[in-house]
This record gives sequence, C-alpha cells and structure tokens, in this order.
Amino acid sequence: MSEVLKVEDMSVTFDLHDSEVHAVREMNFTLAEGETLAVVGESGSGKSQAFLSIMGLLAKNGRATGRAVMGDVDLIGMAPKQLDIYRGKDIAMIFQDPMTSLNPTLRVKTQLAEVLVTHRNFDKQAAIKTSIEMLERVGIPEPVKRANAYPHELSGGMRQRVMIAMSLLCQPKILIADEPTTALDVTVQAQMLDLFKKLTEDFGTALVLITHDLGVVAGIADRMMVMYGGRAVETGKTDDLFYDPRHPYTLGLLHSTPHIAKRTARLDPIQGLPPSLEHLPQGCSFNPRCAFAFDRCHAERPPLTEAGEGRQKACFYEGAMKYGEVA
Ligand SMILES: Nc1ncnc2c1ncn2[C@@H]1O[C@H](COP(=O)(O)OP(=O)(O)OP(=O)(O)O)[C@@H](O)[C@H]1O
Ligand SMILES: [Mg+2]
Repeated sequence: MSEVLKVEDMSVTFDLHDSEVHAVREMNFTLAEGETLAVVGESGSGKSQAFLSIMGLLAKNGRATGRAVMGDVDLIGMAPKQLDIYRGKDIAMIFQDPMTSLNPTLRVKTQLAEVLVTHRNFDKQAAIKTSIEMLERVGIPEPVKRANAYPHELSGGMRQRVMIAMSLLCQPKILIADEPTTALDVTVQAQMLDLFKKLTEDFGTALVLITHDLGVVAGIADRMMVMYGGRAVETGKTDDLFYDPRHPYTLGLLHSTPHIAKRTARLDPIQGLPPSLEHLPQGCSFNPRCAFAFDRCHAERPPLTEAGEGRQKACFYEGAMKYGEVA
C-alpha cells in the first residue's frame, strides 16, 4: 500500500521563560493509504502536540523540527499561507469538543458549504446540496433540518458527526481525530467508531485516532503507536500489541483498561505517575514504574528498534512479561 505520510525525526519543543519542554522527541512513523493508526498513551505523553505540529497548529511558544512528508511536500516549518492549501483539503483534524471548531453564529449548512466553495470551487447551491448529502452519509437524521440549525441546537454526538462530515467533504487523504469520542456517552461513542470505520473504508482516508482509551482502539485500528514521555515506545499491528505486548508500558496500559483487563480477571492501574517532561529520569523514561527494569535501563535510553515483523519497541528487556508484573 502506498504511503500518505512519512514522519522523520520530528520533535516538538516549547519555550518557557527560562527553560524548554520537549513535548515530542524524535518521532518516526509512516501512515499508509486508508489505514487506521491509533496513537495511545497517558495524558501529557505528547499525542496531541505531535499531530498539531503536523497541522501547523502549535501554540506560539512551540516549534517543530524534523519532517512530515505528505506527497512531495514537507509540512513541518511550512508557512501558514502555504499550509492552508493542504489543511482541510488533504489533511484534516477533528477535536474532542466540536464546539471549538464550529462557528456558533453560522448555520451548519453555511459552514459545510464554505469548505466546498473554498477548497473545491463549488458554487453555493451545489455546495449546500453536497453538504446535506454528506450529513446524511454520516448518519444525521433529517439532514435538511439539521443543516439549517445552528451548532448549539444539536446534541454533542450530532455536532461530532457534523465535524466528521465537514472534514470528509474534501475527501482528505489523512484525517486526524484527537479524542473524538471522549466527550460522548458510551453508546454514541460506539456508533461514532463504527462511522469512522465505515467512512475511512468508503473514502480511502487514512485515520489517525488519538486516544488514551485502549478500549476504543481494539475494533478499529490496524496499527498502534504507544507514546510515553514524548516518545513512541512501541509500534506494531494492533493485534500483536494487544495479545503480545513487548514493552512493559504497553502491558501496563492493557492491564489498566477495564474491558480488556476483565478478560484476564484483574484490573491493575500502572503504579506511579507519568514523568515530568522537564525532568525525565535518566535512561529509560519508564524505569521508575517498570517491574522489569535492570541496570542498563537506568543508565541508557533504549532506542526504538525492530522487535519482530512489522513492530518496534524501545526497551532493553527481552524476557517474558507475565501478568501481574506490570509495576
Ligand atoms: N504551549 C505550551 N507550552 C508549554 N508546554 C506545553 C504547551 N502545550 C503543550 N505543552 C506540554 O506538552 C506536553 C504534551 O502535551 P500533549 O497535549 O501532546 O499531551 P497528550 O498526550 O495529548 O495528553 P492528553 O491525553 O491529556 O490530551 C504536555 O506536558 C504539555 O504540558
Ligand atoms: Mg491530547
């Protein structure tokens, strides 16, 4: 399958008054056409900042280095004006709270149509017609009525569907969804995940699903990237990581996810707290919480290296990891 995004040595740094925070460090991954990649990890592990930097949406005190190549363009460091050519059209991002991205003062149809007029040279009438069809495609009942509504007149789940519809109007090659279901109740969450699965299949869009909940990953992601302390610590096929995790942190995440851990009868939160990015431990960032850490883990940081077919890990430990030995 062909590649739609290749990220190389990407790092994100924020400048503070008298120090800096390395939110993302030396990230490398590729995204294939039409695949779903889940990016998981605890709060503060750098998931959002990694993808905001690709979208050119970092806060003012942030800067990104490295490359994020889409087609023949590198999105990192690109001027905002030039980025606007690609944002929304080839690469789109949706967030946990759709209200932050929807304009409260404009009817839904006006906002959707605007995308088509701007990026695809539609005339207004055709744009509205296509927008309404897209609302129907994302499962919005009475699409004509909803199209005439203002965002606050819709439920949270409906608003998220509107965002999905908006992001798909240009049939982007890449859709980044940052915690898209976190604010929704469980039933709506499940519907939304089904919708993502169906739409990415229909449109051939590659989906990056950012989440701290491994439960949402299981049925939808082809591959996973587990992040810890700003770095990818394990990557591979979802099934491989679920059934045979090779990084103790991945094992810990699995054990602390309710309906996954239930199968093995015990729920164990990972002991300790995620590291402060300003004071990362020496060696492997996970070593203070790891039951498998040995001398080398305190002295050296393990690089992300091949760990079997199509998978990588950043861990020196090569022995078996038994249940209950998480931390
Ligand atoms: N403008 C900023 N200035 C300084 N540090 C920042 C800034 N924005 C983000 N950070 C830091 O970057 C780190 C990574 O944040 P990020 O938002 O990527 O985490 P996350 O993995 O998405 O977490 P969550 O699951 O809570 O969304 C955090 O420690 C955060 O404090
Ligand atoms: Mg985030």
